[in-house]
Amino acid sequence: MATVLRAIQADITTLGVDAIVNAANESLLGGGGVDGAIHRAAGRELLAECRQLGGCKTGDAKLTNGYQLPAAFVIHTVGPVWHGGQHKEAELLASCYRRVLEIAAAHAITSVAFPSISTGVYGYPIEAAAQIAVSTVTNNLQQCPALQEVIFCCFSDSDLAIYQHVLSKSGL
Ligand code: APR
Repeated sequence: MATVLRAIQADITTLGVDAIVNAANESLLGGGGVDGAIHRAAGRELLAECRQLGGCKTGDAKLTNGYQLPAAFVIHTVGPVWHGGQHKEAELLASCYRRVLEIAAAHAITSVAFPSISTGVYGYPIEAAAQIAVSTVTNNLQQCPALQEVIFCCFSDSDLAIYQHVLSKSGL
């Protein structure tokens, strides 16, 4: 069955998908932005579980429970900080999306929602990041036979317009 990819504007902590993705930092001990929102909504048990994980390298991802969130799981990933594009930022960002899909496949996750990784505090230009997000997910779907739905959860209407444009360009 083909996986449906779509972009919406929402607070990711409200989505009743199997897994939401967190744009975390390497400590996995919380922060601002979507990281802060997810920890606030999930409750302190999330931090307790994160403390056991020993951090997460940029470009990697780790799974936890969702606790008080409507989503059963959180897949924490650490995007690259934007330093102008000559420090493997594109490869590292693509790696985040790939690793999240690997974890989703390993846990037979059927629906996953991504925030726009690295495009907030980490300063990654939104157009380039959205292109990497959509193309990396599209190119790795075959490894996730159980995955029925991928949501690109935008926080602003301007980000939503960019993701919708990228999705329509790739014929999705
Ligand atoms: N739901 C969906 N998207 C959100 C939400 C939310 N509740 N809150 C913020 N966002 C969006 C931002 O508007 C941005 O488009 O998530 C995207 C990622 O922005 P950040 O959260 O700033 O994440 P990032 O740029 O990857 O920086 C990560 O910020 O919060 C810290 O601990 C985090 O150090 C890490 C860094």
